[in-house]
Parts: sequence; structure tokens; C-alpha cells
Amino acid sequence: MRKPLLIAKQGRCPTGLLGKLVAHVMATQTAAENDIVLGLLHLDPADCVLEIGSGHGNTLAKVAGLASRGPHCGVDFSPVMHRHVSRRHRNLAREGRLAFHLGGSERLPYPDRTFDKAYAVHTVYAGLP
Ligand SMILES: C[S@@+](CC[C@H](N)C(=O)[O-])C[C@H]1O[C@@H](n2cnc3c(N)ncnc32)[C@H](O)[C@@H]1O
Repeated sequence: MRKPLLIAKQGRCPTGLLGKLVAHVMATQTAAENDIVLGLLHLDPADCVLEIGSGHGNTLAKVAGLASRGPHCGVDFSPVMHRHVSRRHRNLAREGRLAFHLGGSERLPYPDRTFDKAYAVHTVYAGLP
């Protein structure tokens, strides 16, 4: 498999050991774009927020610092990322500020009208074989 294709496939759904590495790289490489998106959301302290493809969860942790209501939720269909994020942000999860769920955007595990705002960054990888 060509290297760019392998990296794109790992970005779309991190798996195995390489997926764990991708989680760390992703967290630093996408921070600037995620900060721009947080600015565009104009978060209100009372907002409840959903991130689709929450990956490492660092952006949602920033949301928890900006909007006190919560729990803000992250959904991701990669079991590797779900395990990673559940460990990394366990304190915020214990406090009821964040919640991470394993699942895909096609069938979100939340009732209608749960969230005030939602975002996804570097999540849609169209056209991969
Ligand atoms: C490249 S990472 C980006 C993570 C984070 N949003 C960021 O900007 O750093 C993409 C993440 O989205 C998840 N993902 C991709 N498509 C998804 C979908 N349809 N539903 C849920 N998660 C998805 C992947 O498993 C992966 O963890």
C-alpha cells in the first residue's frame, strides 16, 4: 500500500499500533484548525456540544473549559481511539463534563435536540478505497 494511502486510511479510522501513534500525531497536528473551529462556534457557557470523529478528544476538552454545562459528547467509530480518549480524559468524564461514545455518524447514539452545537474536523475522508 502506498504511504499516503496508508496514512489516509489510518486518519479515517485508526487501528492497531499505528493507530495509537496516529492519535498522538493527530493531537498536535490538527490543534490550530480545531482552535479556528472553536472560535467559529461562538460558544456560550450554556451550550451542550457534540464532536463527530472526536479522535484524541483534546478539542472537546477545550470545549469543556469554555462551556460549563455539558456533558459535551464525542463520538468516534475507531475502537482504538475510543480506548485512547476514554483513558486520556477520564477525569473530565468522571466529573460528567465529557462523554465519549463508540459509534458512527450514520447512527448517532443520542436523542434529537440533545446538542446546541456540533462540529467535525478532519473526519470526512471521501473516496478512499
Ligand atoms: C484524522 S482523525 C481527526 C480527529 C480530530 N477530529 C482532529 O481534528 O484531530 C479522524 C477521526 O474521525 C473518526 N471518524 C471518521 N469518520 C467517522 C464517522 N463517520 N463517524 C465517527 N467517527 C469517524 C476516526 O476514527 C478518527 O478518530
